[in-house]
Amino acid sequence: MPSSRPTETTDAVRALAWQDGVLRLLDQRQLPGTQAYLECTDGATVAQAIRDMVVRGAPAIGIAAAYGIALSAARIGRTDDWTAALEADFQRLEGARPTAVNLSWALRMMRERLQRLGPDQDVPARLLEAAKGIHESDLEANLTMGRLGMELIRKHQKQKQNLMTHCNAGALATGGYGTALGVIRAAHAAGLVDQVFIDETRPWLQGSRLTAWELQQDNIAARISVDSAAGHLMKTEQITWVIVGADRIAANGDVVNKIGTYGLSILAMHHGLRFMVVAPSSTIDMALENGDEVEIEERPASELLTLGAQSLDTGVPVFNPVFDVTPADLIDVIVTEKGIVERPDARKMADLMSSRHLH
Ligand code: MRU
Repeated sequence: MPSSRPTETTDAVRALAWQDGVLRLLDQRQLPGTQAYLECTDGATVAQAIRDMVVRGAPAIGIAAAYGIALSAARIGRTDDWTAALEADFQRLEGARPTAVNLSWALRMMRERLQRLGPDQDVPARLLEAAKGIHESDLEANLTMGRLGMELIRKHQKQKQNLMTHCNAGALATGGYGTALGVIRAAHAAGLVDQVFIDETRPWLQGSRLTAWELQQDNIAARISVDSAAGHLMKTEQITWVIVGADRIAANGDVVNKIGTYGLSILAMHHGLRFMVVAPSSTIDMALENGDEVEIEERPASELLTLGAQSLDTGVPVFNPVFDVTPADLIDVIVTEKGIVERPDARKMADLMSSRHLH
């Protein structure tokens, strides 16, 4: 059993910070052992940091990319053609990772801001404002989603309960507070959480390295298990909800998220647990008819072929897809800052995105 019981939620963790003209990224490759920061002063460095997973998580990479454009504009200083001067960095940033739509969403916001600027305006300053706006609105969205998700949990059961989460959809993956972990933070603050079961999330260990670290900072009781324990835990540990984030949500409500999410949704249905996806509307891609059309990122074999200092390489080839698609009909509810969608389908998603949705 965990040694500490929940006391109070501090929400002190931040993945990115703008400080004196520099973007500081908490290097998530080194957590939980070391808290080191990478200082970025141009878009190319930010793109490389996204590729290398210094910063990761769908909203966080979008925010980082927006700051990357602001940094590049500051370095350029003056030009007659801002669109041409920034194009290489837009493309570099957009190509850094393929699956999370927040990256291209944030860059589209920056392009649109650039196009609206007149010749007399201070372009670097206006682009920095836009990046800060994307950052702040993500944090706001997370606080709203936290409340909406917590209310859903409370509606079904007023007592303390056990929750399960996968990967890291916390402050580290966003502008702060988190999506799935935002709901867990809000539920904990409302006295609804006994403990959180964290999947370790192979191979990059976002669960055991990052989610566990965040929950520890906030004194939220948690236990880490191997991903393959999920079915056993659902059968034996009175878990009521599986709560995850998303990298892209299609127009029909299919959810693309960290590899293993699809399997969890099937297990949850079999065991009668509710399955909640928490994501800002910037994660919803209405141009994507269904989840099967999305490009699933494959990462290097080396992520699977080491155990500490030991090589596990036998010569057998590795297949390392790092996201999967959970069909909409395995999802009980999608929580966004615009409202909630129960039993998602194409019509309900369209209503949500056209803001005709009430919550
Ligand atoms: O490969 P990662 O660590 O970037 O994957 C992150 C996830 O899959 C998260 O669940 C998702 O981005 C939502 S984060 C709020």
